[in-house]
Order: sequence, then C-alpha cells, then structure tokens
Amino acid sequence: MKNKDFSLLSKQLGGVSRRDFMKFCTIMAAGMGLPLGMGEKIAEAVTNPRRPSVIWLSAQECTGCTESLLRSTHPTLDHLILDLISLDYHETLSTPSGHMAEEARRKAMSENKGKFILVVDGSIPTKDGGVYCMIGGKPVIDILKETAPQAGAIIAIGSCASWGGIPSADPNPTGATPVHQILKGTPVVNIPGCPASPYNFLSTVLYYLTFKKLPELDDLGRPKFAYGRLIHENCERRPHFDAGRFAIEFGDENHRKGYCLYKLGCKGPETFNNCPSILYGDVGSGSWPVGTGHPCFGCSEKGVGFHAPLHAVAKLHMVTPPDTYPHVVEQQGRGLTIAAAAVAAAAAAAAAGAAVVVAKKLGEEEGSGKSGKK
Ligand code: SF4
Ligand code: SF4
Ligand code: F3S
Repeated sequence: MKNKDFSLLSKQLGGVSRRDFMKFCTIMAAGMGLPLGMGEKIAEAVTNPRRPSVIWLSAQECTGCTESLLRSTHPTLDHLILDLISLDYHETLSTPSGHMAEEARRKAMSENKGKFILVVDGSIPTKDGGVYCMIGGKPVIDILKETAPQAGAIIAIGSCASWGGIPSADPNPTGATPVHQILKGTPVVNIPGCPASPYNFLSTVLYYLTFKKLPELDDLGRPKFAYGRLIHENCERRPHFDAGRFAIEFGDENHRKGYCLYKLGCKGPETFNNCPSILYGDVGSGSWPVGTGHPCFGCSEKGVGFHAPLHAVAKLHMVTPPDTYPHVVEQQGRGLTIAAAAVAAAAAAAAAGAAVVVAKKLGEEEGSGKSGKK
C-alpha cells in the first residue's frame, strides 16, 4: 500500500494510524476465513482511489438496516463504507431528491454497467402490481428488475430483503417477496438479520472489492464466513443447556443466574449467525440478545424470525455438545472472550469478534483526541 494512498484514507478515517488500519484489515481477512497475509490485499483494495459505484434500493423496510450501519459508535465502519464506495443512490442518504435522485441512479447505471454493486434493503411487494411501494412514480419491483441485470454484484441486506422479513409475516398483505425470488437465476448474496450486522455487510463488500468475486455462499445465499455456525454452538450459555439448567420464567432465579433460555423460546439452536462472537453496537461484552437475557428470536433465520411463535421451543439441530467448547465458567452477559471464541467458533467468527475490539480501540483513540477527528 502506497504511503500517499494511505495518508488520504487516514485523513478520511479521522486520522487512524497505519498500524491500526493494517491490523483492522488483517482481522477482517481472518474474519472472512482468509489467510492473514490477505490483510495487505484488502488494504490495497480499500485505498484504491477508484471507488466502486453503489446503488442502494430501499423497498418495504424500516430503515433499520441503514441506521445500524451508520450508528456504529466508532469512526471506522461508516467512514470505510462511505469513503470506500461511491454511494450514487440511496433514498435516505442521497443529497439529491425527486427526479434528480432518479437521474443520478440512471447515470450511475449507465456509467458503471456491469460493475456497480446493487444493495437492496426491504422486501418487494408483488400484490396488485406492486403498488404498495412506489418510488418516483414506479413500483419498486420494476426498478429492481431494471437495475439488477446491469449490476456486477447484488447484495440483499437484512431479513426483509433476504426472506421477506416483517412485511411477509402472516397474512402478508402486500405479497412481500425476497429479492432473490424476484431475480430468479441471478446470484444474490443474502445478509439476513433484523437489522443485519454491519460487519457481515462490510466484510462482504470488502471481499468483493478485494477479489472481484463474491465470497463462498451457503445454499441459502449467505456468506459462509458469517452464517456457517449455529448461534447455539457459540453461545456463552451453552454449558447450561448441556447441563440441563434452564430459565423457566423471565425474572426467575435461573434467569437471574444466567441459565440457558431455551425454554423461554430461544431460537439459537436453529439460527445460523455470528451474533455471540461479533456482538452489536460496539458497546462491549454482552451486547447481543442472549447476552442481555432475552432469547434469540431467530431474526436472521428463514422461516423462524417473524414466522415461528416467539415462545415456542426451537427445533434442535444439534443435541450433543460441540467438539470445541466455551468455558464453563463464562459469566452471564459477557459474551465469549476472544480466546474462548477462537476455540468455540474457529478462526472466522472469532476474528470477526476481534474486529470489534480493534474497531472499538479506534473509537477510543478518537475519543482521546489522538485521531484528530472533531
Ligand atoms: Fe428494518 Fe429489520 Fe427489515 Fe432491516 S431487516 S429493514 S431492520 S425490518
Ligand atoms: Fe444459548 Fe439459546 Fe442455545 Fe441456550 S438455547 S445455549 S440461550 S443459544
Ligand atoms: Fe437476531 Fe438472534 Fe442474533 S434475534 S440478532 S439472530 S441472537
């Protein structure tokens, strides 16, 4: 990575040091299950002055996925995303509005044909000619069909775009449909979650920018590095599950002791996601649903979140303990330590957890005034 490229990026990121930036790239590489040496390659992609065009379509959504991306408490993620890409169209973030915004989308499409990244959040209404989500006087389904064939890569962010999410909950009055079902035959990366983890999104974008191809996906179109394991495999309460120690009611003694939430309807045993390792909001340990004492409701899992009854017990995919195991003495609400996660989750998920630590450190440096960011 050339020094002049980095100094520009460093300025954009609020004065992040080269060392911390390289550490971040190396950890992101590990988070995607890549050899650590790939960090340098990621850094080169990030500092490439030619930023790829991104067109972000919002359909039936609550803006939670965008909010979660922008509400990161450290300077890295939102700056990386916004400085790394050229966000040519986003209904919430774009400066132009009305016809000018639609013009910006068409211009970005024609200038970057076959190269731009199309991000879609929200489900696509299909009933009554798609009238339940109109943008610039057009049903969003038509805009999606017009935009997608010209994109280089398509990412469906959030459970609404991936599976239908909240709008598709029974009785699904608008015929809410996931993006991949509208674009049958076209590869679509699903980053489910309500909202989706910003890290899973960022890692996918970084992978595509670095290698010019999509990461390895599972049979539901999810990146394997993020959705390869059940929450139940990495949960800090797993030793209680295996020992048969369950909370029976919210607030009972077992709940206060941090016992397993399975009998309160926790869907961790049937939900694939890296929440226990990566956590949310960069506020430190325990910041994920189960860490705060609430059962996972399977927000990211197809057919579980918004479909299965909240307090029904989960289907068990795995009844025996995993080979690798978090510490029995892990305390309630602390999340996995990086070391325990490394054992329990193998390199990928653990390193993504470590990314939170690095990102947080960058944020602390900003707070201490070292970053120079105002
Ligand atoms: Fe909102 Fe959740 Fe849909 Fe994202 S997935 S747009 S947070 S309802
Ligand atoms: Fe954790 Fe839920 Fe599994 Fe219990 S059932 S170990 S709380 S994921
Ligand atoms: Fe969602 Fe469950 Fe993770 S509710 S945020 S998938 S712990």
